[in-house]
Amino acid sequence: MTCYPPPRENCRIVVTGASSGIGEATCRLLRDNGWQVVAVARRRERLERLSAEIGCEYEVCDVTDADAVDAMAQRVFERGAVSGVVINAGGAHGADPVAAGKAEDWEWMYRVNVAGALATTQAFLPHLRANGGDLLYLTSTAAHETYPGGAGYTAAKHAEAMIPETMRLELVGEPVRIFQVCPGMVKTEEFSLNRLGDRERAEAVYAGVEDPLVAADIADVIGYCLSRPPHVVLDRIDVRPRAQATTMVVARSPRP
Ligand SMILES: NC(=O)c1ccc[n+]([C@@H]2O[C@H](COP(=O)([O-])OP(=O)(O)OC[C@H]3O[C@@H](n4cnc5c(N)ncnc54)[C@H](OP(=O)(O)O)[C@@H]3O)[C@@H](O)[C@H]2O)c1
Repeated sequence: MTCYPPPRENCRIVVTGASSGIGEATCRLLRDNGWQVVAVARRRERLERLSAEIGCEYEVCDVTDADAVDAMAQRVFERGAVSGVVINAGGAHGADPVAAGKAEDWEWMYRVNVAGALATTQAFLPHLRANGGDLLYLTSTAAHETYPGGAGYTAAKHAEAMIPETMRLELVGEPVRIFQVCPGMVKTEEFSLNRLGDRERAEAVYAGVEDPLVAADIADVIGYCLSRPPHVVLDRIDVRPRAQATTMVVARSPRP
């Protein structure tokens, strides 16, 4: 377990996309290190299990429904103050070249990664501006790179990245810290499966890659960000496995 300096008084972090992968690992790491956590996702049974295991609050919410996100935030505020939000809910659908890209996949990715991040930001921002706190966005190296078959996802992640990058200009001088964590290849249980639709294609993404990142590696970086002294901000952090130089240049064994 990674140990950080003890969290400041009353640290209560909302984590979206908390029912699997990076979000779930973040909830576990934050709880292990003494933070209060509110886990948010759509699948109630997974959140119930997580809550029973680690002792966190949870909220069932679809982040693409802005009214539902507002209502969720109000329920969270009724139980206490929030000191930070990890905006992590997101994902990819499809890996078609532009010539064959499906509008419904592009729309799905825009709704969850961009509109979802916007709705979550807007629901919590007034509280954070008034009381001080953190917004941490899980974008991706896809937020500033592209690759064949990646245009729909990279378009959505580029767009999502404009939220923290613009807000940093809009909120300068206010007591809100804005972080952006940009992972490269992370082997999580569901990300590539949801994207490609079957386990064999999903496994092929990581085939021959020595030690791809895992969710706990990204949770570790998130814990590091949130535990910095209040005047310190890490604007944007790219995190990749040693075997990956860019989205497209990946060492695989046996080497080609
Ligand atoms: N894995 C990677 O290689 C990688 C690399 C760079 C960036 N990222 C980004 O990191 C984040 C987490 O990725 P991951 O690998 O942990 O993916 P994951 O395991 O598929 O987890 C995605 C999470 O988002 C939640 N979610 C999806 N749609 C939602 C919605 N409409 N409302 C609320 N929650 C929703 C899912 O829970 P429910 O289905 O229960 O709602 C799940 O908890 C994503 O933003 C992803 O784009 C991943």
